[in-house]
Amino acid sequence: MKLSLLIFLFLIITVFSGRYEELVNQINAANAGWISKENLEFSKKTDEDLKRLFNLKIDPPENFEKTKIRREKLTDPPANFDAREAWPGCIGGISDEGKCGSSWAIPAVEALSDRLCIESNSTIKVRLSPQFLVDCDSYNFGCNGGWLYAAWQFLTSNGSVSIDCYPYTSGGSGEPGLCRNTCTNGSDFSFYFANDFYGVWEVYWIMTEIYLRGSIQSAFTIFEDFLHYSSGIYSHVAGNEIGGHSLRIIGWGVDNGVDYWICANSWGTSWGINGYANILKGFNECGIETTIVTGHPKVAN
Ligand SMILES: *[C@@H]1O[C@H](CO)[C@@H](O)[C@H](O)[C@H]1NC(C)=O
Ligand SMILES: *[C@@H]1O[C@H](CO)[C@@H](O)[C@H](O)[C@H]1NC(C)=O
Ligand SMILES: *[C@@H]1O[C@H](CO)[C@@H](O)[C@H](O)[C@H]1NC(C)=O
Repeated sequence: MKLSLLIFLFLIITVFSGRYEELVNQINAANAGWISKENLEFSKKTDEDLKRLFNLKIDPPENFEKTKIRREKLTDPPANFDAREAWPGCIGGISDEGKCGSSWAIPAVEALSDRLCIESNSTIKVRLSPQFLVDCDSYNFGCNGGWLYAAWQFLTSNGSVSIDCYPYTSGGSGEPGLCRNTCTNGSDFSFYFANDFYGVWEVYWIMTEIYLRGSIQSAFTIFEDFLHYSSGIYSHVAGNEIGGHSLRIIGWGVDNGVDYWICANSWGTSWGINGYANILKGFNECGIETTIVTGHPKVAN
């Protein structure tokens, strides 16, 4: 009994751990400025699971034309900027979307939460609920992806409630829940809103936006190698394109002359650099500098 269990486990581990071995070796041999480590969480997933997880819709350029685009430019941006240092206590940590393709919602509510704290001089310190969007935003597709613009439209018109009121519950099932109209403990909703939303692109505008107002949401084309990122400055090296993904950019830096964005991902803290990734800046890597949406928080009526 015990022996057969051990053999079974051994087989499972050997089958899964081989899946991306060649890719990981290829990346590490390329000396591309980052280190890859096989992420067994993704090795275990079926193609169907991956498809759902990376079903994010990357807004076409027309969506940008519909909304205001901010074109502010700092004259002399610093070489390094980290929102966590600029606004201590305002910038949220790392979430875990689990099996639910909610990366359209998590960075949106996270960026708005950061911005509410910043704009209110730390008087509004609330972490907003992505689950409220997953369950209730009918312009988007729950655990099956969504549009950044539609997420911010929803945050502007409907807002979100606190994560304590409406916790994240889709990580295990990969399915959305029913849209509720009270907190889990039965108390009434208190809503928090974005005042407006807009696109930002071009490296200097993006830096200016983060420098003045904090975190932004970005969508990019995801390739298999990103799943197995461990440290360093990511740029696409190898592997197939597998869809779209979104994350929150909270600053930038430079290492040995190579510029990067500091990005908060939503795959828990054991992925990447404690849940964060540094992604090459200035080259529109995988489209990361062309699909950026953010907005002003609503801090007063
Ligand atoms: C935050 O502080 C700034 C500068 O002191 C002030 O102009 C602004 O009105 C304050 N905002 C809030 C919401 O209190
Ligand atoms: C979003 O706001 C609209 C307009 O106020 C309202 O009709 C709708 O019920 C809201 N949706 C949710 C899920 O709260
Ligand atoms: C219910 O949860 C909300 C949100 O976390 C909280 O503000 C409120 O105090 C709770 N109410 C009770 C009766 O525990």
